[in-house]
Amino acid sequence: MELNTAKNFLGNNWTAFENFYRSALRSDIAFLNTINDYLLQHSGKQLRPLLTLIAAKLCGEITASAYVAAAAVEMVHTASLLHDDVVDNADWRHGMPTVKTLWKSQAAVLTGDYWLSRAFQLVVEHQEHRLLPTFTSCLLNLSEGELFQMSKAQILDTTQDDYYTIIGKKTASLMSAGMKAGAITGGGSKLDILNMNIAGYALGLAFQIRDDIFDYTKNNFFDKPTGIDLREQKITLPLICALKNVENNKREEIIREVKKAAKNSRSAAKVTTFVRQQGGIETAQSIQQEHINEAIAIFLSYPESEICRLLINIARYLAKRDA
Ligand code: IPE
Ligand code: IPE
Ligand code: MG
Ligand code: MG
Ligand code: MG
Repeated sequence: MELNTAKNFLGNNWTAFENFYRSALRSDIAFLNTINDYLLQHSGKQLRPLLTLIAAKLCGEITASAYVAAAAVEMVHTASLLHDDVVDNADWRHGMPTVKTLWKSQAAVLTGDYWLSRAFQLVVEHQEHRLLPTFTSCLLNLSEGELFQMSKAQILDTTQDDYYTIIGKKTASLMSAGMKAGAITGGGSKLDILNMNIAGYALGLAFQIRDDIFDYTKNNFFDKPTGIDLREQKITLPLICALKNVENNKREEIIREVKKAAKNSRSAAKVTTFVRQQGGIETAQSIQQEHINEAIAIFLSYPESEICRLLINIARYLAKRDA
C-alpha cells in the first residue's frame, strides 16, 4: 500500500525515526513500560510521522529535528487515542482490546498524559523550541474539539459548520501541525510552511470524514467496530448530509431515533438506513474528495520529484483507503 511504499522510499530515514521514537518511550516504571510496549506492539498506520518526514523532504531535507517533530506528533496522536477511547467508551482498536479495557480508564488517561508530556519534553530536550507554538496550539485545539463535540452530543443540534469546527480541531489540527513542523525542520520557506499547514489541514479533514463514513459502512471487525458514533450520540457528516434532504418533521423524527440509539440498536439501524437511503454516504464521500483535491493542488505546485509523487499518491490513497 501507498504508506509502505513511502516508508520504503524513506529507507534509513524511516528506520532512524522508528528507533528514535521507540527509545524515547522507556520509563523507570514497569507498569508504564508494560502499557507502552502493548501500544508499540499494536501501533497504527503511523501516517502522521510519515507526513511530517515527507513534508520535511519536500521542503528541504530530513534532519535530526524532523525525527523529533515526527515522534512528538505520533506521541500526541497516541495520547489522543488513549483519551478518545475513554471518552467514546471504546473497547477495540487495531483489532485488540483498548488500554482502557485492559487496564481501566484511569490507567488510559494517565498513560495518555504521559505520552503527551513526553512529546513536549522531547521537543524541549532537543532544543526545538521553534516547534512549540505549533504544537501547543494544536494541543489546545484537540481538547477544544473533543469538548465541543461532547457538548453537541448532548443537544444533538450539530450543523455542518459545527461539524467542521469539531473535525478541524480534533483531527485536522494535528495533521496540519505535523506537516508544518516537517516543513520548518526541513528548512522550508515561509510559503512552504504555509503550504504544508494548509495541505495537512485539508488531508486531516478528509481523513476524519472518511473515518466517520467508516462508522456507518464498514462491516468487518478488523480494526475497530462500527456504530460507535451513533451510540455515543455523535452526528457526523453522512447524517448531516442526509438530514438536509428532508423536511423538519422527518428531521425531528430521525433525531429522536439518534437519541434512542444510545441504548437501542434498532434505532441505530433505522438511522443508518435513513442515511443510506438519502445518499448521505455518497455526499460525504464527494465532500471528502474535495479536501483531498485541495491538498493535491498544493502538492502539484511543487517541482516534479519522487517525494512529491509519493505524497500525491498518499493523498489519493487517503481518499479511498479502507483501513
Ligand atoms: C484514528 O486515526 C483517529 C482519527 C483521527 C480518526 P488513525 O486511523 O490514523 O489511527 P492509527 O494510528 O492508524 O490507529
Ligand atoms: C478521532 O475521532 C479521535 C481523535 C482525533 C483523537 P474518533 O473518535 O472518530 O476516532 P476513532 O474512530 O475512535 O479512531
Ligand atoms: Mg472520539
Ligand atoms: Mg473514538
Ligand atoms: Mg471514528
